[in-house]
Amino acid sequence: MKFSIKLFFLIFFVVAVSAFVGKTDNSPFDDESLSLFYYNRSCPEVEKIIHNKVKKWVDKDYTIAPALIRLHFHDCAVRGCDASVLLNHKESERWSNVSKSLRGFEVIDDIKAEIEKKCPKTVSCADIVTAASRDATVLAGGPYWQVPYGRKDGRVSIAKEAELVPMGHENVTDLVEFYQSKGLNIIDLVALSGAHTIGRSTCGSLQYRLYNYMGTGKPDPTINPKYLNFLRRKCRWASEYVDLDATTPKTFDAQYFKNVQNKMGLLHTDQILYSDSRTSPLLNALASQSGLFHHQFAASMVKLGNIQDYLSADDGEIRVNCNYVNA
Ligand code: HEM
Ligand SMILES: *[C@@H]1O[C@H](CO)[C@@H](O)[C@H](O)[C@H]1NC(C)=O
Ligand SMILES: *[C@@H]1O[C@H](CO)[C@@H](O)[C@H](O)[C@H]1NC(C)=O
Ligand SMILES: *[C@@H]1O[C@H](CO)[C@@H](O)[C@H](O)[C@H]1NC(C)=O
Repeated sequence: MKFSIKLFFLIFFVVAVSAFVGKTDNSPFDDESLSLFYYNRSCPEVEKIIHNKVKKWVDKDYTIAPALIRLHFHDCAVRGCDASVLLNHKESERWSNVSKSLRGFEVIDDIKAEIEKKCPKTVSCADIVTAASRDATVLAGGPYWQVPYGRKDGRVSIAKEAELVPMGHENVTDLVEFYQSKGLNIIDLVALSGAHTIGRSTCGSLQYRLYNYMGTGKPDPTINPKYLNFLRRKCRWASEYVDLDATTPKTFDAQYFKNVQNKMGLLHTDQILYSDSRTSPLLNALASQSGLFHHQFAASMVKLGNIQDYLSADDGEIRVNCNYVNA
């Protein structure tokens, strides 16, 4: 009798736990060791410090906000969110030619220095980048979300791996597969592309669309003619900058999706989200409901920030200086 009661509770427990785990809908890439309360005791001020610093920098230079959001994406897209993008040695990701226009490193260094004073050797650089991108989003007028903490900083960073991050010339299948390889789905793809509602691109990333697209001797036919004229004037040199969202470049709104509907997606990978039947219904939904965009962007950013790479045989560490692995 006693035995069967024990068995009953054991089964009940297993069922309850698996139901709970099932509900969280985590991909195998998701690290369940992350927690909203990770620094509650060890560094209770951490969010305040990060927020104040990000605000100070963004107040001084608005363009820091999009730079920080992109930096987080490039960190998480290679070896998971482990601050591998920050490592500053020969042939690290940061020195790959595809990382050339990444910015915001000095902001992370500034935050880290402040945190090391208050809570030495406690807060990872990867967590700082993650929280800074959330704060940058809010400062740009975007949604707030709670950031789970507890990421570790990786010890490996390889320039060649940075070239795997999409650069704008890919097709939708490539993008979907890339996202899938990180445990992200097609909704995440469309929602996170909405980050291009702020920030800028170097003209070098899109000049190939303007005159002789894929050897046709003509521009990319999916570009709105007026927008094409604007881009041809704006982008004489590859090193010039052009806003990703031509309509409201400084506001974190759903206008990016409306631009794409009007054939005003700056990057090829922005524009094709509208012509592909897998992504266009999602794009149209986000274009017409800015509340939905904000809500989904926040949810997808949490997923992006939780990508952990179990393939790298590296337990990680808490770096003292975000630019270098600990001695
Ligand atoms: C679908 C895959 C993506 C592609 C192909 C892509 C491509 C690009 C390219 C080519 C640029 C301009 C680079 C240059 O200066 O030449 C850029 C900028 C930017 N990207 Fe993406 N991106 C993607 C996804 C994302 C995601 C997921 C985020 C964040 C959640 C993001 C945030 C940004 C931001 C904020 C900028 C502006 C940076 C600045 O102003 O400094 N992108 N992206
Ligand atoms: C951590 O701190 C937050 C905010 O002060 C509080 O709401 C929460 O209950 C704390 N959690 C734990 C596990 O201590
Ligand atoms: C980066 O540089 C390498 C070597 O110079 C070159 O082969 C590659 O095409 C470059 N990639 C980009 C995107 O510029
Ligand atoms: C997408 O591009 C890749 C190369 O990046 C190519 O192999 C593939 O055939 C393309 N797929 C479609 C559907 O065009």
